[in-house]
Amino acid sequence: MPDTPSVTDEQVAPAVDDLDTIVSLSKRRGFIYPSSEIYGGINAVWDYGPLGVELKNNVKRAWWRAMVQERDDIVGLDAGILMAPQVWVTSGHVAEFSDPLVECATCHRRYRLDELPGAEDVSPADAADAAIIERLGLTCPNDGGPLSAPRRFNLMLKTFLGPVEDEAAIVYLRPETAQGIYVNFRNVQQSSRKKVPFGIAQIGKAFRNEISPGNFVFRMREFEQMEMQFFVRPDGATAAFEDWLPRRRAWYETLGVAPARLRTREHQPGELAHYAKKAVDVEYRFPFGWKELEGVHNRGDFDLGNHARASGENLEYFDPSTEEHYIPWIVETSAGADRAAFTFLIDAYREEEVRGEKRVVLGLHPDLAPYKVAVLPLLKKRSEIVEICRRLRADLARDVMAVYDDTAAIGKLYRRQDEIGTPWCVTVDVDSLDDGAATIRDRDSMTQERVPIEGVKRAILDRMAAARG
Ligand code: GAP
Repeated sequence: MPDTPSVTDEQVAPAVDDLDTIVSLSKRRGFIYPSSEIYGGINAVWDYGPLGVELKNNVKRAWWRAMVQERDDIVGLDAGILMAPQVWVTSGHVAEFSDPLVECATCHRRYRLDELPGAEDVSPADAADAAIIERLGLTCPNDGGPLSAPRRFNLMLKTFLGPVEDEAAIVYLRPETAQGIYVNFRNVQQSSRKKVPFGIAQIGKAFRNEISPGNFVFRMREFEQMEMQFFVRPDGATAAFEDWLPRRRAWYETLGVAPARLRTREHQPGELAHYAKKAVDVEYRFPFGWKELEGVHNRGDFDLGNHARASGENLEYFDPSTEEHYIPWIVETSAGADRAAFTFLIDAYREEEVRGEKRVVLGLHPDLAPYKVAVLPLLKKRSEIVEICRRLRADLARDVMAVYDDTAAIGKLYRRQDEIGTPWCVTVDVDSLDDGAATIRDRDSMTQERVPIEGVKRAILDRMAAARG
């Protein structure tokens, strides 16, 4: 697949111009709140509200479905967040997982060097150069004050394990989920009896002490990753990479992201992470520019080779068909669950005019929508209607997330559901008492269909299956 970095910010408009639109919708409707808000918040940690937790769970479910459930060559894992500290020495994170930090001598604000205006393209070699600030003429964006020479700032968060808080008790909160997979490679391969090529997938929390977090949930200090490590013969890594990259990009498209707002960008040699032989990012056109959504990496034998050497354990794979022993190479697909949920939220947002009124719609794919269906009574004063609605919701809720609402007039109830992305609303009216039918209203087309009440669930499940294709 050709790399498409030539698509510039200007050529493709974001789905939403102003990020505040999404931030305020998220707060107002219960998708995402600032963490510990009543104490003034904690920088770069966010909490998911009732709708947000559904959205994020649905994102993770869709990923697991595509990456584990539908594959007979990938199995799952859930490793601990805390690992033996030696893991992070061997992985290179203790020595290499750092960003260049500069500090203003007057206001003491700290910045990541490559995020300063005028320093966006500095290479890692430049960032190690003590004279870089002077050479580029950089000053503090806040008060114009002088900036320090860059120093390496390790992004791993630390804590202590056990009752004594000394050097020997330091453990790290994992900065990526991948290492839990590598150290379990032999366990998983032997217990699942998978043959190379095969993959191990994991979803879980990761922590990074980011210097400049921000843009809402784009860069957080506590976040979730969805990573898959595909183990291949050394000579199969290039083909596996070429297979996974378009698959991962297509996953976002299948779930509704506009293809025009996705592109791929290959890392330049100076930009590659310490473990990568090749890396291509799937990028999304966020309101603040093209940014990484997911990375696909050829990690070679870096991980299993280093862990084998450092632990003294044999992590070679024996191929029974060729009778060869080798350290498998790894092709990694590494996505952020929060960043993916954020992307789906932004990309689904649209404002329309309907009969002279503004309609806000989250056109979320039904698999991702927090509620699949809302059951609404047309007359809440009629107890028979309310009772039918309550029973219908309870029956639907055995299979899908369904909500009942009678707190406003029907037009307003529809708008509320449109704004949170509910694909279908079912209304029960006075006629339903005679004909035993209800109306299913479609979020996107706003068309309505009359369906026997006992057939409503089947109709919703059929529509969900059709949306999945
Ligand atoms: N194991 C490889 C790895 O961790 P990465 O490019 O550092 O690679 C992979 O991270 C993905 O994790 C990113 O594409 C992004 O979606 C997500 N991610 C990384 N740092 C993040 C942060 N601070 N906040 C939210 N998501 C983050």
